[in-house]
Amino acid sequence: QSRPWSHASGKVILLGEHAVVYGVPAIAVGISRGAMARAIPCDESTSVLRLEGLPVDLRADDEERDLARGFRAVLEAAGVHGSFVVEARTDLPPGAGLGCSAALGVALARALDPAANAALTAERAMAWERVFHGNPSGVDTAVSAEGGCIYFERGRGFERVESSAPLLLCVGHTGTISSTKSMVEAVARLRERRPEMVEKSFEGIRSLVRNARLAIEAGDVRALGQLMDLNQMLLSGLFLSTQEIERMCGLARDAGALGAKLTGAGGGGCVAALVENREVADRILRAWKEAGFEGFLAETPDRNRPAE
Ligand code: MEV
Repeated sequence: QSRPWSHASGKVILLGEHAVVYGVPAIAVGISRGAMARAIPCDESTSVLRLEGLPVDLRADDEERDLARGFRAVLEAAGVHGSFVVEARTDLPPGAGLGCSAALGVALARALDPAANAALTAERAMAWERVFHGNPSGVDTAVSAEGGCIYFERGRGFERVESSAPLLLCVGHTGTISSTKSMVEAVARLRERRPEMVEKSFEGIRSLVRNARLAIEAGDVRALGQLMDLNQMLLSGLFLSTQEIERMCGLARDAGALGAKLTGAGGGGCVAALVENREVADRILRAWKEAGFEGFLAETPDRNRPAE
């Protein structure tokens, strides 16, 4: 007796990362790359996580490893009875800002209880996220569980944003891995040292996010691109950008992007460039490739998402 694979989306934050930790809304979209998991009931005394690429199975009663602690946290959050072998895999690069960790948490929570709705699945996956990140806002698990385009506010949950046009995004990797936990901690330290400056940036981001929601609903991708550029400026003011991020954003804009910014935690990881059509996307991906950066095209909201 086994269960089918459960899916969870990876994500691109269009606007609002970091500020969202402090209650500013953010807008994020699900992408078709993500994670999947399935739970097979077993007779063992404890559940086991079999993560593709890991040489060993992780027992839920293992006190040493973070992954095992995360697994146990999801099992507890889902109120699971009995033991399971849970197989999981992801095609998202870790530490890239594309929500690899949240997607795994959501895939696990969904595999253990496929009938739970997106909000409940996201909440359960937060138990996993908290093991790896000090202070997750919840935007990553929410968009991973819901897919599509969401407007998320910490403590208030999410609403779907219906975009009148598909959003074409080039997603490119700087090649540098970054830790969300340490980037979030760096912003917290900056906020302690320079509260006014950080609050002003967050308020700026709040109005960009508000306008971006209207732009998406109206299908005004040009306006959305400009708002993303402005968000990138505010993020670099918070020391979250790097030379590679700036270079990749510059290459994307020169090749015709409507806007480009880091996505996720920054300090490395990925950039997202909004484009009007596939020709521009091809130009950007070529320009990145010539400069040594890998990228792919994500069409969102992801229409290929498997039905739940
Ligand atoms: C990471 O994908 C997004 C951050 O805003 C952290 C969070 O919201 O938990 C940097």
